[in-house]
Amino acid sequence: MPILALLSDIHANLDALEAVLADLRARHPAASRYHLGDLVGYSAEPDAVIARLDAEAIPGVAGNYDSTVAHAYKHCGCRSENARQEELAHQSFAWTLANTSDASKARLAALPFRLDLRPLGGHTAGPRVVLLHAHPSSNLIYVTEDRPDDFLRKMGASVEARDGDLVAFGHTHKPWHRVVDGVHYVNTGSVGRPKDGDPRAGYVLVTVSELGALQVRIERVAYDVERAAAKVIAAGLPAEFADFLRSGGRG
Ligand SMILES: [Fe+2]
Repeated sequence: MPILALLSDIHANLDALEAVLADLRARHPAASRYHLGDLVGYSAEPDAVIARLDAEAIPGVAGNYDSTVAHAYKHCGCRSENARQEELAHQSFAWTLANTSDASKARLAALPFRLDLRPLGGHTAGPRVVLLHAHPSSNLIYVTEDRPDDFLRKMGASVEARDGDLVAFGHTHKPWHRVVDGVHYVNTGSVGRPKDGDPRAGYVLVTVSELGALQVRIERVAYDVERAAAKVIAAGLPAEFADFLRSGGRG
């Protein structure tokens, strides 16, 4: 049975990424691994994360952070709730622009907006899995769990999702899964910067039966958060980003 592992919002946190890769090697060595973007930003190791994904041959899509860093925009396109958050967002973006190599930026610029998979392959179509960073029309839209079914129906229709298909995305850093009219909508959460109060790295496993039925599991993996936090401080990034990793975005 094909197994897909979906990793989103790694955000330059190599320690969290390594923990997820080790978890997959131990428990699901045959899983096909994909990323859903936002490889950089907030943490200290953007180049190392990109190199690791390349070394592991993990394909994926572009997040808002990836495209804005690749093209040296003035802002990551992230939403800020107050002036301090806005200031921190600017600090993260400026640091990441200055500390991501040209070669890495070229890798980020080459990421597609969307990937469509047919995990069963072969001569039967089977279910389709659509990978996005945030939303089919814009990487600035937050598809949160409180979105009504109708919002999800429209989102599914815009990628021509049918009964039995799956639409996967990240961007909010809070995982959830819902089925509307037979279509699975899966927010994969975040590997490297969870915001749901659980500091463990998050990802999603999708198992596809031979008949095409999908099973979705939200996974969490403990990792050395203190090590990642120490790297944030040593890099000269704001101490708030280290605390964010420790608390899982709470407080
Ligand atoms: Fe993100």
